[in-house]
Amino acid sequence: MRLIKPRRLRFRGFLDECFPDTFDGRSYFKQLPHFRYLAYQDEKIVGQLGIDHRVINIEGKIVRIFGLIDLCVLPAYRRSGIASNLLHTAEMQARRAQVDFLVLMGDNDTIYKAHGFNRVSPAMTKWLAVENVESVSIIERDLADFFLVKSLSAEEWPKGKIDMLGYLF
Ligand SMILES: CC(C)(COP(=O)(O)OP(=O)(O)OC[C@H]1O[C@@H](n2cnc3c(N)ncnc32)[C@H](O)[C@@H]1OP(=O)(O)O)[C@@H](O)C(=O)NCCC(=O)NCCS
Repeated sequence: MRLIKPRRLRFRGFLDECFPDTFDGRSYFKQLPHFRYLAYQDEKIVGQLGIDHRVINIEGKIVRIFGLIDLCVLPAYRRSGIASNLLHTAEMQARRAQVDFLVLMGDNDTIYKAHGFNRVSPAMTKWLAVENVESVSIIERDLADFFLVKSLSAEEWPKGKIDMLGYLF
């Protein structure tokens, strides 16, 4: 008989392989995602996408989002569509959950543009700053260089100030 290790243990160290010198052995950066999509090859985790399901406030309008967190694929498995599959799977689930927008922070937008994401500009954003697993302050800043969204309905991203109602994923 062959025992399969619990998946939690097999996830440890995965993010360090994808993002060297960032996670320091943790399975999250600022906060645990609400859930994750994991891509497997045989029994090995080769890709992940974390999801933060929440409402945010844009100039008084409350919208439901899936925040996409730390999309990554192990170097040896890149450029074969694994990240694209993870994005597609998350989008299908978001549509079923009646989410208004997919939202993520990224400076390189290549894969996201190919999946229909657009930059928000300006993106004056307020969020809870978390440092070293402690809430430290509220920050307000234009995140136009990072803020990417995809509408899942006919509705466009509303104009105005964005209140993340929590930490910035
Ligand atoms: C970005 C990443 C997840 C793509 O995974 P993948 O499984 O190779 O993606 P796919 O095969 O579905 O698509 C490949 C496309 O992603 C795009 N891409 C490559 N690196 C990228 C990056 N760092 N950021 C955004 N898009 C990227 C390219 O357009 C590429 O297409 P090409 O091969 O024609 O040039 C992977 O390169 C990775 O883990 N990088 C390190 C972690 C990272 O930067 N994550 C993004 C955080 S916002």
